[in-house]
Amino acid sequence: AVVIRTFDHDLLCRFAQHATIPVINALTDFSHPCQILADLMTLKEQKKELKGLTVAFIGDGNNVANSLAFASAKCGMHLRIASPKGYELMPEVLREARSYAALGGSITLTNSPVEAATGADALYTDVWTSMGQEEESRERRRDFEGFQIGEPLMKKAKSDAVVLHCLPAHRGEEITAEVMERFKDVIFDEAENRLHVQKGLMVLLMGRSKAFQK
Ligand code: NVA
Repeated sequence: AVVIRTFDHDLLCRFAQHATIPVINALTDFSHPCQILADLMTLKEQKKELKGLTVAFIGDGNNVANSLAFASAKCGMHLRIASPKGYELMPEVLREARSYAALGGSITLTNSPVEAATGADALYTDVWTSMGQEEESRERRRDFEGFQIGEPLMKKAKSDAVVLHCLPAHRGEEITAEVMERFKDVIFDEAENRLHVQKGLMVLLMGRSKAFQK
């Protein structure tokens, strides 16, 4: 198999079209499916059942948000994404994700972190500036003001809500140091779960091949 972590999603798609072996997306500017598999595993560990959970993603409508939207819909979760104006999930992603909501899941977009977080089972955030966007970081810091997971937002979520972060975290930007510390056991389990869930992915993709069984 080939595992590709790159910027340009089209490059990965073109590579996969010509490949004769499995190609695993380890992050592109469009999606981050392996991360979301680990997130689902972590949510299952924490909350036992994915179906019916309300997850609030606070931040950029980016690669992580796209994959989370696809996966949440497929798992019957209620995903609320709160982004600043101009950073919302792309309409075509929203449309595709909603088409997967067979198990009764839903996706709601808002510009209000409080609206998204109220009564949520989990809050999730990611960096404000993703890889390849470094030149925009000053502008983004300004635009994302108020989209931080801190105590005021935690108070709006359920009292047993957990916090997820795909890491690396920028303490003091998208998450406060206090919240990061409080939920570090969940967040570091989430990072560890990348290993377990991606072993599962390899079995799924290659478990029947002779080379894999040797
Ligand atoms: N959105 C982030 C995810 C990092 C795991 C990035 O693309 O840089």
